[in-house]
Amino acid sequence: MKHIDIFDLIARKSEFVGKSVVVCGWVRTSRDSKTVAFLEVNDGTTLKHLQIVLDKAVIKNVDKVLPLCTAVRVSGKCVVAANNPESVEVNAESVVVLGECPPEYPIQKKPHSLEYLRGLPHLRVRTNTFNAMFRLRSKLSEAIHRYFLDRHYTYVHTPIITGSDCEGAGEIFRVSSLGYSNKYKTEKEYNDADFFGKTAGLTVSAQLEGEVAAMALGKIYTFGPTFRAENSNTARHAAEFWQIEPEVAFAEIDDIIEIATEMIKSIIGTVLKECKEEIAFFEKFYEKDLTKKLQAVVDSEFARVDYSDAINILKKSKKQFVYPVEWGCDLQTEHERYLTDEVYKKPVFVVNYPKKLKSFYMKQNADGKTVAATDLLVPGVGEIIGCSEREADYHKLLQAIKDRGMKQQDYENYLDLRRFGSVPHSGFGLGLERMLMYLTGIGNIRDTALYPRAKGELR
Ligand code: 4AD
Ligand code: MG
Repeated sequence: MKHIDIFDLIARKSEFVGKSVVVCGWVRTSRDSKTVAFLEVNDGTTLKHLQIVLDKAVIKNVDKVLPLCTAVRVSGKCVVAANNPESVEVNAESVVVLGECPPEYPIQKKPHSLEYLRGLPHLRVRTNTFNAMFRLRSKLSEAIHRYFLDRHYTYVHTPIITGSDCEGAGEIFRVSSLGYSNKYKTEKEYNDADFFGKTAGLTVSAQLEGEVAAMALGKIYTFGPTFRAENSNTARHAAEFWQIEPEVAFAEIDDIIEIATEMIKSIIGTVLKECKEEIAFFEKFYEKDLTKKLQAVVDSEFARVDYSDAINILKKSKKQFVYPVEWGCDLQTEHERYLTDEVYKKPVFVVNYPKKLKSFYMKQNADGKTVAATDLLVPGVGEIIGCSEREADYHKLLQAIKDRGMKQQDYENYLDLRRFGSVPHSGFGLGLERMLMYLTGIGNIRDTALYPRAKGELR
């Protein structure tokens, strides 16, 4: 008899009550008494565990199946749960041990800290927290695809190996097929001999290629891994993260802000509707009033503040910041947190940053000092979206490239987009893991990815 997913058994319980079923899974908890024992079994298809009742007169290998994380295949009768008429359980007729689990299994019943579990990336996914996280991550990804595809965006796959640095921050991981050798006398000799005959790296953003696609397909988005050799060892920076980057032709800064707002509301709405159990779990263990917070984001307007006004707000605050606040300074986490957690208490777009702080591709405002760029900051996490209108004027863009000492020849394709039928266009990048932090209340980005990558951390 084929086994049934625990998800299906619970979702379609009326079909199964009174019938023989086979379920497989891992023992998450067990309780033993004189004549009966109980197992809570999870097969990963749902956050919920299924209770298995073992009548010791019937099941003879009870001792073998009690240890945590033993893998079992249970045959028995599905019945209405004795202590909950809304739920079902299985009265076992036989339990086959598929895989034993000895007592040195490092995740025992006591609650383990997330730090401890980070040391066990291959096993932590078996805990409720990570079960809920990866289920949510999957649903969130689906919701994002649905949002764009329903609105006729084209999903574009951009290269992961690139020869340009989109963000200009020099945080590129090199890609090379050559190992260490003293054969090469100069860097040029080494690069010439390398796979591409030039320096190559892992993408820090799909935007530049995304713009190429948008100049033909109009509305596109990318959804893929992004790599940054960022030296910041913080709870919200990863060396590898996933970014969703829509690029929209004929959209100006206000249009893209509207799109970003609508997308965030839409994906949160989907998650609230379709991940009720997971959100309830995170609310219980990680963030009080999480559902209320998320529902409020869906229901209310986002705030918007000009960078210059934000600087004034920070200056007037009575708060002692570690990093001094002056017009022209980059907003540090403490500044962002003050704006989101104490002033606005909801998502806020900070708009029109000084051009010196931002990348070369952003549209230069008429004041000569700022660019049409915005970051969306949210309480508890800080920046989740980096967004801008792109500079569509060939000469201004070329000047920005030169001003930053970048090599024009590396950006000729990109400049061509401004030579051949240039149009206003805008886009943004949403960090998937940062979004997950916001959706779950999980405070460290390392707990949103299966195998997190950060400086000095490679498991
Ligand atoms: O603000 P960023 O650097 O913007 C770009 O890369 C633009 N090219 C996007 C675009 O306009 N198409 O990064 C965008 C987002 C950030 O807001 C943040 O959510 C996430 O990517 N992000 C990171 N997430 C985790 N770890 C890091 N080191 C991150 N750096 C950026
Ligand atoms: Mg940014």
